[in-house]
Amino acid sequence: MTKGEVAAKTPMPVGVEAGKDYFWCACGKSKTQPFCDGSHKGTDFRPVRYTAEKDETKWFCACKQTNGQPFCDGSHKAL
Ligand code: FES
Repeated sequence: MTKGEVAAKTPMPVGVEAGKDYFWCACGKSKTQPFCDGSHKGTDFRPVRYTAEKDETKWFCACKQTNGQPFCDGSHKAL
């Protein structure tokens, strides 16, 4: 699978709310990381939807190299 551009080399913690949808930026071009702002238009990338199961802090991938989208899997350590 093609990976997006590196937006940052550390993951981003986000306090998510139960039942709410989040759209993770896969292309790396969004100005509102780690989420999609529509900047993927014209590319083959699409945002990845995540629905929170409970109120908690999740670590979203910002380097876009993760194999566990939309979350950090430690891939940024190899950059
Ligand atoms: Fe990156 Fe939408 S802006 S997937």
